[in-house]
Amino acid sequence: MTLKTKTWWERGIIYQIYPLTFADSNGDGVGDLQGIIQRLDYLNDGNPNSDTSLGIDAIWLSPINKSPMFDNGYDVSDYREICPTFGTLEDFDELIREAHQRGIKVILDLVVNHTSDRHDWFVESRSSRDNPKADWYLWQEGYKDNPPNNWLSYFGGSGWTFCPERGQYYFHTFNANQPDLNWRNPDVREEVFDIIRFWLDRGVDGFRLDASSAYSKDKYFRDNPLKFASSDKNDYNNYHHLYEKNLPENHEIVREIRQVLDEYDDRLLVGETFIDNTLYDSIAFYGANNDELHLPFTFEFAFSPWYPGHLQREIERKELLTPQGAQPVYFWDNHDIPRHLSRWVDCSLCVDSMAIAMAAATLLLTVRGTPVLYYGQEIGMVDYDDIPPELSRDKAIAPSPSGEVPERRDGARTPMQWDDSPQAGFSFGKNPQPWLPVHPNYKEVNVAAQLRDPRSLLNFYRRLVALRRDSEALLWGRLRTLIHYPYEHLAYLRETDDEMVLVVINFSYEKPLILDIPIERQGWKLLISARDRRVNSYREETGTTIDIPEKLDAFEILVLQKV
Ligand code: NOJ
Repeated sequence: MTLKTKTWWERGIIYQIYPLTFADSNGDGVGDLQGIIQRLDYLNDGNPNSDTSLGIDAIWLSPINKSPMFDNGYDVSDYREICPTFGTLEDFDELIREAHQRGIKVILDLVVNHTSDRHDWFVESRSSRDNPKADWYLWQEGYKDNPPNNWLSYFGGSGWTFCPERGQYYFHTFNANQPDLNWRNPDVREEVFDIIRFWLDRGVDGFRLDASSAYSKDKYFRDNPLKFASSDKNDYNNYHHLYEKNLPENHEIVREIRQVLDEYDDRLLVGETFIDNTLYDSIAFYGANNDELHLPFTFEFAFSPWYPGHLQREIERKELLTPQGAQPVYFWDNHDIPRHLSRWVDCSLCVDSMAIAMAAATLLLTVRGTPVLYYGQEIGMVDYDDIPPELSRDKAIAPSPSGEVPERRDGARTPMQWDDSPQAGFSFGKNPQPWLPVHPNYKEVNVAAQLRDPRSLLNFYRRLVALRRDSEALLWGRLRTLIHYPYEHLAYLRETDDEMVLVVINFSYEKPLILDIPIERQGWKLLISARDRRVNSYREETGTTIDIPEKLDAFEILVLQKV
């Protein structure tokens, strides 16, 4: 079948790698670029019929620039260097070459809302009020011994920190070690654009813009209004972030960044647009003429309960709002939130986490949009919640004013579970302690074991990835839901003029569940199925022609193509 020409990111699946814990090649306990290179074949070996590859199309690397690692790379001290922890620029060039040889694109995380406080720019900026970089950050006078206004840090406490050298405060959306750049300064813009070109020239295929709705701040530094009668225990949520998020000027900045990417062929701009954002705020980042982000990350799946009615409503809303010609993007997990099988632990106590994982996989890979997987999701990794505080690596989030220990993000960042050898095959050195401890379930939950088991979650993902790659309907067909308000199961069509695919996912253990959908039942080819958490356990073999069943079994999943 010949597929219409579309860009790689409209066809492709993105896989997020957290480099610190993906693969350690030198045995120091910390992941690195050579480790990623060694594992590329697992991600995609370039053979569409591979027995061992997952088959993804692009990797997004969480930050690899030089950094003191206070926020694990989201605090950059040199944008043109690779952090020595991960390797060298030569290693990076090799990664690009090796990835491209296999048809894998490489997306970098670009953290330019703020820098590290150790960045030379900030060191200079803070040194006096009249140095050449004096205006590269957001400096303000205090107000009667208090910070300049009421803006808060997303990580807790005031967003302003006093600097004795200047006798002024600087603003930080995140931690005090992460001062925000002043995007109103044209020199800052030009410098960031040059950094972008530096990486594009090296062959990078795109960027994920960190905190991309927070670049621009009100030029009068006005106080944010309090929300009416809001008493969230996280004070940040009690304010409307009217004056430091989503400003109209922010769109202008993203547009300018996009113009830099458009100087090159076929590059992708993804952005994190979530702080205090409604779906409308995020959708606006496509730009009035689809000239801002190609893919604005919206968090509806990440924040959804495991409930079909809610998920369907979110998908329908997004279908309605996504501009003509633009592509939606979906993900369940990332490095900032608990993994979905851990988020829905209440469900998975009474349901079966394998059933949840398979339903989630099916939905993500058959809904209309670019899917983003988070490393380990394909084998059903769960959060490691019992990491002792002294081994925690998430230092950026401040303790609450009452001294409460904050919720750390380490649990979702543990080493990739490759096999059942010590350290799960993530690292091999004498260093007994990888950067974060390996989840104790690694002997059962690992890539090697799941590749051997034809009914594993990993093989289920691999088959869905392959199905999607070969189906125009699944790639970019229209989406039509078939149940008005689903309580227990989802049923939707993906259609082009030539192909129709039906997806049915039963979220419930009720059986039998009547499948009442307004569609002709005869003549469907079975593409993939699962029942009672068993992959391809349907009565008939994959590829045979069947009728849509009247009833669904517990957790049954069916993907059918109209003959
Ligand atoms: C969002 C990133 O995803 C998160 O990990 C980081 O801590 C903040 N931005 C600050 O860069």
